[in-house]
Amino acid sequence: MNEKQRLESQQIATKNPSDKKSEKDYSKFFESVYVAPSLKDAKKRGKEEVKYHKDFSISQEFHGLGQGKKFYIRTYGCQMNEHDTEVMAGIFLELGYEPTDGVEDADVILLNTCAIRENAENKVFGELGHLKHLKSEKPDLLIGVCGCMSQEESVVNKILKTYQQVDMIFGTHNIHRLPNILNEAYMSKEMVVEVWSKEGDVIENLPKVRKGNIKAWVNIMYGCDKFCTYCIVPYTRGKERSRRPEDIIQEVRHLAAQGYKEITLLGQNVNAYGKDFEDRKYGLGDLMDEIRKIDIPRIRFTTSHPRDFDDHLIEVLGKGGNLLDHIHLPVQSGSSEILKIMARKYSREQYLELVRKIKEAMPNASLTTDIIVGFPNETEEQFEETLSLYREVEFDSAYTFIYSPREGTPAAKMKDNVPMEVKKERLQRLNAIVNEISAKKLKEYEGKIVNVLVEGESKKNPEVLSGYTEKSKLVNFRAPKSAIGQIVSVKITEAKTWTLNGEMVEQPVEVK
Ligand code: SAH
Ligand code: SF4
Ligand code: F3S
Repeated sequence: MNEKQRLESQQIATKNPSDKKSEKDYSKFFESVYVAPSLKDAKKRGKEEVKYHKDFSISQEFHGLGQGKKFYIRTYGCQMNEHDTEVMAGIFLELGYEPTDGVEDADVILLNTCAIRENAENKVFGELGHLKHLKSEKPDLLIGVCGCMSQEESVVNKILKTYQQVDMIFGTHNIHRLPNILNEAYMSKEMVVEVWSKEGDVIENLPKVRKGNIKAWVNIMYGCDKFCTYCIVPYTRGKERSRRPEDIIQEVRHLAAQGYKEITLLGQNVNAYGKDFEDRKYGLGDLMDEIRKIDIPRIRFTTSHPRDFDDHLIEVLGKGGNLLDHIHLPVQSGSSEILKIMARKYSREQYLELVRKIKEAMPNASLTTDIIVGFPNETEEQFEETLSLYREVEFDSAYTFIYSPREGTPAAKMKDNVPMEVKKERLQRLNAIVNEISAKKLKEYEGKIVNVLVEGESKKNPEVLSGYTEKSKLVNFRAPKSAIGQIVSVKITEAKTWTLNGEMVEQPVEVK
């Protein structure tokens, strides 16, 4: 849905709240439902042109809406959500709200949710349960649910029925509408639901309050058209829309000028960047080739899909410099048969060939990955292919998951003959290998000198500083606080299970 469709649907809603196109009729629960989600609509990929709105501003009528009030946002899920939280925080500040670190003294609480697996959703329902007593103590408190879960019909339905402490539900495409949604929630005191299911627009110049002033996220594209059969993201984030390179480059330049040291370019499938441009041929390789010339020490990107990882990008990454050679390249499975049913659109052999090409261009490249075990009907042999692929590539580390059926996705309809105990056991076996190889790789750092971007005091000990290497290894070491925000050379003295300990080296040393 875009702005025009929104206005139309609002008119329908005002005329007759129950006369909406949505398959489910929520109006029997509440009157002020604007737009409920529809996974069926979210699945559609029309030819509608992407519109770029560069004129975002908060209407005068909402200024001061948050005067004397505090907001708190709890974020679940991926970097995309973390960054959306930064945008929402920016909007809150413009409305006059102040941030707070705890739910107790907040006047508005938002849960920015993730729908990727069932346990991610359960955490949110648990949290909503905890917030119930706060709401009864403080009836003026506004509680909102946003992010990916809001895009699911079943979730909205459950909240409407069971979690009446919630005042607002809005979707991932409705973030820029936060002022209107808040205003409506104050006015009506009934649950406000605004979830657009189909989005073709990109909204530029939204305000942002970034977390910290050392590292920053920059969206390069939104949505995903890959439709891996297990995944909910194409439904919750809409179709692939790339930001214009000029806008991205301007944002990165601006961050460089502000002194940021590291940028992570964000998208669900960054390798599809630019595919939706109708007026030019321009991909991620072209974008990286321009961004690497900007005076910023570190540039990362995530998440890569192996299928669209092209030779031009590899060639550009091979130029090194500020383009870091740590690549997160989710493989999901080592079995070509499973990959086929997952609709990943590459085989085991193609993945291994891509790894070979990347390592040829970047001999020191480190790779990390995501793996799903226990996909419906995965056999022991197919699972073992995942183990053997893991050993063959020698990933630095991996996020590993048990397959979780997501309503509305094709895989959720598949019959599954793999019992949960077997899935759990497979996860343990995989994790044992992941841990073994990670430990081995960390051990190799002992005695070496690495460049660390110092982020602050370590969580456990304020006397110790910590930061990340180019390959995203966490390093703890003693150094004066003035090192915070700087890239310093650290000699690794000891490899722990997940982290490295070291000593700062006097003279910065150029190492790769
Ligand atoms: N766009 C990224 C993935 C984002 S989701 C990509 O394609 O790589 C992050 C990870 O969650 C995925 O890589 C996958 O390993 C996992 N995941 C996604 N859906 C899942 C599901 N239904 N069950 C278990 N894990 C899932
Ligand atoms: Fe999900 Fe696949 Fe898209 Fe990644 S590429 S977000 S796993 S559908
Ligand atoms: Fe979760 Fe949505 Fe990200 S489902 S992983 S928060 S895109």
